[in-house]
Amino acid sequence: MPKPIFVLNGANLNLLGVREPSIYGAETLADVQRRTEARAQTLGLAVDFRQSNAEGELVNWIQEAREKACGIILNAGAYTHTSVAILDALTAAEKPVIELHLSNVFRRESFRHHSYVAPAAQGLICGFGPKGYELAVEAMADLVAGKRGGAAKT
Ligand code: DQA
Repeated sequence: MPKPIFVLNGANLNLLGVREPSIYGAETLADVQRRTEARAQTLGLAVDFRQSNAEGELVNWIQEAREKACGIILNAGAYTHTSVAILDALTAAEKPVIELHLSNVFRRESFRHHSYVAPAAQGLICGFGPKGYELAVEAMADLVAGKRGGAAKT
């Protein structure tokens, strides 16, 4: 079994299911974890699924991923739009990174249009709700297998 994919969730994602369900849906984070793990299992991959409201804890987990993960799927929540520390940690991790959001952040307030995570990510999935976690696992499976390198850097 290869190293797990770290699936890291940031601020307020523990409230999924009760928080603004018209935007984030009715599934809880435990539901999302189950479907993420199930999709990974069908692809022969393991997932280490975590959530924290603390920016520093996310930074620590990203640092841990350098040794212990094959890739990082990150829904940083609001830290996406604020955190240089998370960007620096992702860059230092030297692992494939997929940025993930449940909602389509580009259809929302303009402050959600900028991401500090994006420069460190191979790709971005947003707007598909919990299904996005499955799509991210599929994309990460290809990245880990070396089937797709992401778009060329310019
Ligand atoms: C989010 C989008 C962010 O803008 C927001 O702060 C979140 C959740 C999403 O999954 O759609 O907390 O990352």
